[in-house]
Amino acid sequence: MGQLLSTSSSSRRSHLLPSSASKAPLGKTEADILLSDSSSELSHPFPTETNNDNSTNTQTPPLLPLLKKAKGHYYYPVSGPKILDACGGAGVACLGHGKSNKSVIKAITTQLSTVQYASYAHFRVDPVLQLEKFLCESTDGKMGKMYLMSSGSEAVEAALKFALEYHAWNGQPERVNIISRSHSYHGTTIGSLSASGHTTRRQPFTSVLNRTNFHHLPPCNPYRSPLPREEYLSSLLTSLESLITTISPSTIAALILEPIVGAALGCVPPLPGYLSGIKSFCHTHGILLIYDEVMCGMGRTATSPSHHLHAYQSFPEPDISPDMMTIAKSFSASYLPASALLISTPLSNFLTSHNKVFTHGHTNQSHPVVASACLAVQGTIQSRNLLSNVAAQGGLLLHLLQKQLSQHPNVGDIRGRGLFVGIEFIADKTTKQPFERELDIAGRVHKTALKNWQVLVYASQGCADDQGRGDVIMVMPAYDVTAKEIREMVRRIVGAVREVFDSLWVA
Ligand SMILES: Cc1ncc(COP(=O)(O)O)c(C=O)c1O
Repeated sequence: MGQLLSTSSSSRRSHLLPSSASKAPLGKTEADILLSDSSSELSHPFPTETNNDNSTNTQTPPLLPLLKKAKGHYYYPVSGPKILDACGGAGVACLGHGKSNKSVIKAITTQLSTVQYASYAHFRVDPVLQLEKFLCESTDGKMGKMYLMSSGSEAVEAALKFALEYHAWNGQPERVNIISRSHSYHGTTIGSLSASGHTTRRQPFTSVLNRTNFHHLPPCNPYRSPLPREEYLSSLLTSLESLITTISPSTIAALILEPIVGAALGCVPPLPGYLSGIKSFCHTHGILLIYDEVMCGMGRTATSPSHHLHAYQSFPEPDISPDMMTIAKSFSASYLPASALLISTPLSNFLTSHNKVFTHGHTNQSHPVVASACLAVQGTIQSRNLLSNVAAQGGLLLHLLQKQLSQHPNVGDIRGRGLFVGIEFIADKTTKQPFERELDIAGRVHKTALKNWQVLVYASQGCADDQGRGDVIMVMPAYDVTAKEIREMVRRIVGAVREVFDSLWVA
């Protein structure tokens, strides 16, 4: 193994680079150059993660390919070859793209010409009622009410506000604290970002984020713990207990977590016993438990043909259902923007029996066309038995990636569930030391995969420590992906990973 290219001194860069330097210099890569034929004025949601000088937070406008169409599992740029979609954006396009889902398009257009809008404050509409029924049944009646919105951030914000208002109605207005976890992402609004522990996404806004009422626990990330599993689990539960004691249990409204962590850690499931341990602490102290299933839910992490829709249902632990949960992304497959907050049957019954209405609403809440799109997407998933395909192809995806990449010196961990798989890159396999942020390893893999291998993967940084280090790519294909496509995705992803690291090491 040669010497790794360092970013600590720009003057050292040139002589550390081998002949492959032209493939991946720290300035523009070939991939950058290809992408420069597109519209640089487009904004990227998280440019700090892959496109900027992290020391000064100066943002270089990303150069994104201009698309002419998207169909099935492929994107078609205006120029250049078609691109295989291995991540559906941020794990969103769970039915692929375009006209291949005729029933969804028909449901949307039919609803547009029936009732295109009616305020939730004035009317009830059938698709919204049907969708609520479908979702409550999908939790075996554990959830009893739905609030339909547009984005994951809105659903999380609503969950946090519901917890506060519920406790106030219930004679405990002093419950004003929220527990969440570090290395987490719950949304982009001030409340949901206050709950998020992701360092770089918080960084520009720290002065206005709420640090009085929001408290962060360490996440459950077995790969990054030196402790044996049992000991690690008990240390995590002990840290929750001591945080609850420090804050004072009677002042805590809710605890929010992702059952399987998405972009902030890169597809990390918890240890067995973790969710039941957390739920038991919460309920002992009257704290509402919120699962944020925006990314990992709605079938994305199915592991068996009989799997239900929700990520928490994939764990064999008895009754770990939450008090509230948020869903989005694969909920509507982004045929239209959709998210929902689901509250438990006891909370829903509380509203009825106490004659209470949640003081929260968006103009476009309970939108009939959005509800119709979600119903059609979910109907398609059911009628095509796609969760069993998620389980089967997810197993194949994990197996092939592990077989072909786990021995690679810069691949630390390959983990996930269903069609939700993360590959974490490390500088040193023994110590698990992450790469420096400035090397932007995840961004390099993303760009190389896109340009040289015509496959789209999702890149993220920040999974390893509080300095924003830790590079991961996520593979999240559509639920109807075939075994042949999985093999092709793996071939391209493996090729891109090898190419990036071959170009980074000096012979
Ligand atoms: C777990 C989780 N929660 C909340 C959000 C915020 O959702 P949105 O981007 O739709 O606002 C995201 C977005 O990626 C997410 O992954």
